[in-house]
Amino acid sequence: MQNNPIGIFDSGIGGLTIAHALKKKLPNENIIYFGDTGHLPYGEKSEIAIQSFSKKITQFLIEKKCKTIVIACNSASSVALQSVKEIAKNIPVFNVITPVANKVAQQYSGFNIGVIGTKATIQSNIYEREIKAICPTAQVFSLATPLLAPMIEEGFVNEDISRTVIANYLSNKKLANIDHLILACTHYPLIHKEIKDYYKEEVVVIDSANIVAEHITKELKKDNLLNDSAKTEHHFYVSNYTKSFGESAKFFFREDLKLEEVNLFI
Ligand code: DGL
Repeated sequence: MQNNPIGIFDSGIGGLTIAHALKKKLPNENIIYFGDTGHLPYGEKSEIAIQSFSKKITQFLIEKKCKTIVIACNSASSVALQSVKEIAKNIPVFNVITPVANKVAQQYSGFNIGVIGTKATIQSNIYEREIKAICPTAQVFSLATPLLAPMIEEGFVNEDISRTVIANYLSNKKLANIDHLILACTHYPLIHKEIKDYYKEEVVVIDSANIVAEHITKELKKDNLLNDSAKTEHHFYVSNYTKSFGESAKFFFREDLKLEEVNLFI
């Protein structure tokens, strides 16, 4: 069991930021990644739709003998965690929200925390709920930024279009007084630099991928689920092949890529 792969999924390339952070911490692990590019963006879908996609993907990852499931998508983490757990039964399931909310709440000392994410994530209000469950006095200001994930997925990064869209969202008055910002979408680390440049050091942009990877590493160690063989193999699946997925997967996982299109949804 311990040498079985880690199953990771997202709607597209965003979860690769989590997979990459995990690979850096745990170089011996095999990864099976599913990018549901055929249904992107998840953030615009209903709860029922996101739950149903997440269950199908979890079933697929379990059939591939994954020892654990990582929901590397905030939108699915916010509305489909229970659905995934029902399918995964007795293997550990990780989401990308709780480790970040816990860390921010534990270190809270009066700052104004901004949260940006998809409509699904922001409407669920999950960051505010999880942070306030630990630290009821925390100040949290959330804003849905639905254009960002499709923009990133289409490869509009580090150019005038992306800088304009980012500036438009970040200048929203809801975020006027923040001093910390949670990137509550796994696609957003790909525009981390542009967000930091926008704020010119005035706001701490929180690195969610590393916090999540640290948490997963600690838990797998505790459960004796770390791979003890150094021969790794990563396998990527998408529900709809896109050039941008192929390029991003190559960028993060430099070795020869095993990338396949599969249709789980017929
Ligand atoms: N990467 C996903 C997230 O973290 C969502 C992007 C989308 O499909 O809307 O929410």
